Parts: sequence; structure tokens; C-alpha cells
Amino acid sequence: MDETSRENPAGAMEPIPFNRTAVVGRELDYIQESIERGHTSSGGTFSARAGQILAEETGAEEVLLTTSCTSALELSALMLDLGPTDTVIVPSFTFTSSALAFARQGARLLFCDIEPQTLGPDPEHLESLLDETVRALVIVHYAGIACDVDGIRKALARWPDVVLIEDNAHGLLGTWGGAPLGSLGRFATLSFHETKNFTCGEGGALLLNEASDIDRARVLYDKGTNRQAFMLGQVDKYSWKDTGGSFGLSDTLAAYLTAQLEQRDHIQSRRRAVFETYERALAPFADDLGFQLAEIPPDRGSAYHMFYVLLRDRETRNMVLQSMRAAGVNPTFHYVPLHSSLGGRRFAARPTECPVSEQISGRLLRLPFFNDLSSEDVTRVASAFLNAVSRGDMPS
Ligand SMILES: Cc1ncc(COP(=O)(O)O)c(C=O)c1O
Repeated sequence: MDETSRENPAGAMEPIPFNRTAVVGRELDYIQESIERGHTSSGGTFSARAGQILAEETGAEEVLLTTSCTSALELSALMLDLGPTDTVIVPSFTFTSSALAFARQGARLLFCDIEPQTLGPDPEHLESLLDETVRALVIVHYAGIACDVDGIRKALARWPDVVLIEDNAHGLLGTWGGAPLGSLGRFATLSFHETKNFTCGEGGALLLNEASDIDRARVLYDKGTNRQAFMLGQVDKYSWKDTGGSFGLSDTLAAYLTAQLEQRDHIQSRRRAVFETYERALAPFADDLGFQLAEIPPDRGSAYHMFYVLLRDRETRNMVLQSMRAAGVNPTFHYVPLHSSLGGRRFAARPTECPVSEQISGRLLRLPFFNDLSSEDVTRVASAFLNAVSRGDMPS
């Protein structure tokens, strides 16, 4: 964190945004190269390079770069040939895409509550939801810290046909018990949206961890055709074979992504430094001021996707949010629990209770977090946060 805080020409401090993207390596050169080479659609040289890095890091059998994590989830849903009597279990505390992709394919949803340590699916609630209609379970490694994979595997042990899908939008380069996040499910998805550790604006990937899925996934990925087999010289012409869509990421965006992934060690060390600076600044005050920080369990390696704080209650969180914004710092919050949302209720197989999701949704605050957030700005954010919480703590 070597950049200094920005001052505007009048000497006043510039607001600190929630997120800011940065050029970290050869992004602009590679984008230019991709355009000049003339292969800007999917499946070019840069897609191969980015795919190779992702396969090396996650151990995936195959990596299909997609236009977003949402579309990667949709592709995994297509692979399952879901129907109206099938259900898919998804956490209530996640982004809509984790659920929408499966609802769109005709499945009904069962919303699982989260557990308070990692904010991932609660194995006990999961166990109570599993029955013979369940075709798949979506797990999220919230903030890039692995969920309770052991507990989840135990709950699934009696249901070996339930497909495990990791929505790993937050967790690339995180680990669980030494294994890369994204290597634990039959399918895993990644996001390269502007707000993620590695970005190309909008992008994603589907990781296939079972070789037997590769041939069909390639067809579904490429408009239902065996064009990929044709490109690999395995057949002499290609034609329509199956259902599918146009999921491929443009090679120009893959060029942007390749440059980011090449700098993965640098990016992760910057994010880790930001995370640890926040921790050092805030942890000493947590008990007295009544807030909680994320804990990284000892068997897990964080992907350092975000820094969040849990406040006492919704009222305190909203007050802190407003007060920090007034001080020129832009934190944010999420997610509105899916089980109680309009869409969630529409696509649910039956209502479920998710009290922890509701409670966490009201208490969670995300602090500004990006690669080149300077240590001076981290200190400014931490002070604005502590000032706001202390004010809320004073008797009125
Ligand atoms: C857990 C989770 N899954 C999926 C997505 C969707 O990612 P994308 O914007 O790449 O489609 C997000 C977006 O932030 C997310 O947080």
C-alpha cells in the first residue's frame, strides 16, 4: 500500500470510493494485441492463456470462460437438465444469480439459512431440507473464506446424487484444508466483475472438475454445437447437437483478464495488506464498541475478497453507514435475503425460515476494499468507522 491519499486542488480530502479498478500489468498492451491480431470473439489465444492459469490454480479438468459468473451458473444449471419436480438448495444470504440460474431452468428453490461463523450454508438447516426432490446444492464461500465444507459433506453423505456446485464468485485463490476453492464441487463458478479481485469488467468462468462433463459442456457453451470439437480437429464439420447458449467471453476481455491473472501474487498481497491493516486498526476496539470482525478459521486460506464488519443491529449499521458517507467514505451493505424477496418467494418450492440470514443482512457493513487502497486511506476509513460507532455507543 504505497499510494498516498488523494487531495483535491482545494486541499480537501477526496471521497474514498467503495471500489476502484486498477491497471496492474499489461492489460492495455494485451487488449491492443487482441484487436490487432483480429481474433476478438471467444476462444482465442488469450482465452487459452487465462484458462490455463485458472486450471493450474484450481486443478480444474476444464475451464470455460463465460460472460459472467451468472452465465457460468446458468451453464451449470443447463448441464443438470432440471425440471419442475426438481429442487435446488441455495443459501438465502447470497447474490440473486446463485438462485436465479436454477429457477430459470425450471427448478424450484429451497432456501437454506447460513451459519454465523463463515456466513456460508448452515449444515444443520441443510440436513433438514434434503429430500429425494433435491438435485443440487449451491454453496458460497462468502468474502473468499471457505464455508463449513466438512459439515456440508456430512449432511450430503446420505444423498450421493445431489450435485455440489460452488458459486466461487468471491473465492478464487482461497483454500479449504489446503484444497483450492473451486475444486470442491462437480462444478464451480468464478466472477471477474469489476468489483472482484481479478476483473475484465464483466466476465466469469465455469470450472469442470469431472472429465466426464467436458464434452457436453463444450457443446452447451457454444450455441448447442460441436464447434469446439471442430476447432480441435476432432470432427470435420460442426452442427447443432443439444441445448445451449452463447456463453463465451470475448478474447479482448480475456486479454484484459490474462494481464490481471498474471499479476495474481501482487494483487493478492496488496489485498491481504489492506485486510490486515483494517484488522490491526479495528480489532482492539471490537469488544468495547460491540462489533465483530470476520474470523478466518485456521484450516482455511482467505481469498481476501472483502472486509466486512457486523454491527450490533440494523439501526446501528444504518447509522454508521450514513455517518461514514457524511465523512466522505463509502462503505456499502448487502444482501437482501433471498428467501423473503419477491423473486425468492415466487420460485421457492416451499417457504423456509432463515433467521440468521435476516439478522446478518441487517448488521453487515462492507468497508471500501480494493488493490490500491493506500494505508493512509485505510486509516481514514477505520477512523470514520470508529468515530461513527463510538457516537452510536454514547447514551442519548
Ligand atoms: C456470490 C455471488 N455469486 C454470483 C455473483 C454474480 O457475478 P457476476 O456479476 O459475475 O455475474 C455475485 C456478484 O457479485 C456474487 O456475489
